[in-house]
Amino acid sequence: MKVQFIGLGYIGLPTAAVVAQKGIQVHGVDVNHQVVETINQGKIHIIEPGLEQVVKEGVEKGCFKASKTPTEADVHLIVVPTPFKGNHEPDISFVESATKTILPLLKAGDTFIIESTSPVGTTEKMAKLIFDERPELQGQLAIAYCPERVLPGNVLHELIHNDRVIGGIDSESTQQACNFYQTFVQGELHPTNARTAEMCKLTENSSRDVQIAFANELSLICDKAGVNVWELIELANKHPRVNILQPGAGVGGHCIAVDPYFIVSDYPMESQIIGKAREINNYKSFWCAEKIRTAMLEFELKNGRKATTAIMGLAFKPNIDDLRESPAKYIAQKVMQSEQNNFLVVEPNISEHSVFKLTNYQEAYEKADIIAFLVAHDEFKTLDYKDDKVILDFAGVFRK
Ligand SMILES: NC(=O)c1ccc[n+]([C@@H]2O[C@H](COP(=O)([O-])OP(=O)(O)OC[C@H]3O[C@@H](n4cnc5c(N)ncnc54)[C@H](O)[C@@H]3O)[C@@H](O)[C@H]2O)c1
Repeated sequence: MKVQFIGLGYIGLPTAAVVAQKGIQVHGVDVNHQVVETINQGKIHIIEPGLEQVVKEGVEKGCFKASKTPTEADVHLIVVPTPFKGNHEPDISFVESATKTILPLLKAGDTFIIESTSPVGTTEKMAKLIFDERPELQGQLAIAYCPERVLPGNVLHELIHNDRVIGGIDSESTQQACNFYQTFVQGELHPTNARTAEMCKLTENSSRDVQIAFANELSLICDKAGVNVWELIELANKHPRVNILQPGAGVGGHCIAVDPYFIVSDYPMESQIIGKAREINNYKSFWCAEKIRTAMLEFELKNGRKATTAIMGLAFKPNIDDLRESPAKYIAQKVMQSEQNNFLVVEPNISEHSVFKLTNYQEAYEKADIIAFLVAHDEFKTLDYKDDKVILDFAGVFRK
């Protein structure tokens, strides 16, 4: 068996490496020549614990080779980005162009699988695109969708041990795709159809988004009601069937803050809660920025001088270096829009940033008058609460 991956990023590369680890011949394709060169040297261009070793072994054993051009193979996986456009509509042009590049290479008996997070109906659209160009392959190809749900930082373990949802455009396609995943997945394989598998991925992330929106809405209500939201949630969760998530400065990352729009965009009238959750989570970031601005004005009025404000955290969640779609980054940009001075920006998980000059977290905490916790990084939890500072704890660092 020869397996081809189109797209060697955060998902495509580890999956390709894990398949190659099984002794299967893997051909990885990426449009970025630096990515291709790095991998062929047995190195990696992304941060993921343990991955470099697996890639190195695959390349050295001759099981894993990267290239800019696709080849003939038995199984083809599409793992390219699916961002959204300016109006929050999903952009499946990368999936389309990746499919087109392998169209001439497909042969009877091949399996074509999309792993990119995709709006419902994308797999059927790609099947149509393939069969319109290659009608002789009708009934001869397995075409399926299988979403990815790994946690960055633990990808190598989860790729093998997580359950997988696998949906084909017909039952033979589903079965053939399951046969492929059986070669390296130890979690359970759950067969379904392509549309359900596509919707499953979007549902998982929308579910998280809606639950976080509930916590964020509570935090807004509690702020007005004079109730400590962290204590409230802890107490409410003592109920055996209640499990409220934690509020924060908004919702970020390239999955939870993006995927719900794939449902809202296609089903706007029906997806009332999902759409509203996106609005609430976005509004929470705006609200945090307004709170910081207000605190700065109040400080100036009271003390007759401008406050120094520490922006604590830029990442989209605790203890990571990923700033994609980060609400903290958005808040920092918003409050610093009109003035850059009087701010100390902290992000302990990165060493430098192209826009923000970074300050050590302890130094910022000592020097600043106003402390705005935007992310609950572990480092911040080691700081002692200080009554002489204005502390805006949007992330629950002190939970006061
Ligand atoms: N990163 C995650 O944690 C995660 C989790 C679940 C699902 N996903 C989904 O998986 C998909 C891939 O995400 P990612 O994080 O790996 O993206 P990524 O940006 O890290 O990698 C994608 C790679 O595809 C390459 N590429 C783009 N167009 C190409 C083409 N036509 N031919 C060949 N290569 C091409 C890019 O150069 C890039 O290296 C997305 O749909 C994403 O939503 C990602």
